[in-house]
Amino acid sequence: MKIPHPYTRADAEWYINDSIKNWAKSGYAFVVELKEEKKLIGVMALSGIDFFNGTATTGSRINKKYWRKGYITEAKIAINDFAFDTLKLRRLTSTVNTRNKASIATQQKVGYVFEGIQRKASRSKATGKIYDLNLYGLLKEDWKAAKKKLIPQGISG
Ligand SMILES: CC(C)(COP(=O)(O)OP(=O)(O)OC[C@H]1O[C@@H](n2cnc3c(N)ncnc32)[C@H](O)[C@@H]1OP(=O)(O)O)[C@@H](O)C(=O)NCCC(=O)NCCS
Repeated sequence: MKIPHPYTRADAEWYINDSIKNWAKSGYAFVVELKEEKKLIGVMALSGIDFFNGTATTGSRINKKYWRKGYITEAKIAINDFAFDTLKLRRLTSTVNTRNKASIATQQKVGYVFEGIQRKASRSKATGKIYDLNLYGLLKEDWKAAKKKLIPQGISG
């Protein structure tokens, strides 16, 4: 892309609006921040958004120091609401290494349903080893049921 020079406010506004419009067609990248400390402790993605089929894929990562404190559960509540209520999607997909107990527990906690194994679907960047992946799917109705259990008092958002 050719960056205009001089770079005016109008150029910047066009760029921001264009990014929002075009990013929203295929994905969003979010950060997980500790509110009190304003510290970035993780990332989450909603990628491969397909508005025709109403689908997208999710992925997440938290700094090891902050594992098992419920942070990704909290972040997934927000991202699921965003995907189903704001973007009006119907289904989220997540694939997880069959040995990744933490991620499997996290998917199940927010209502993802195990749909099968994708054989030899992943290669480790570190070792080059090939792994199977568990395929999980979360439909809007799965999320509504899971959310009631996670937040029984029905807080929205
Ligand atoms: C997967 C990951 C994001 C989970 O984040 P987290 O903030 O620690 O998860 P939470 O604290 O919200 O835990 C959610 C549930 O999973 C369970 N869980 C978390 N880690 C676990 C582990 N190692 N073994 C078993 N259960 C685990 C928690 O106990 C909790 O269930 P509970 O409330 O019923 O007890 C984090 O471990 C991580 O970043 N891992 C490395 C990257 C990765 O594997 N990402 C997923 C790729 S698909």
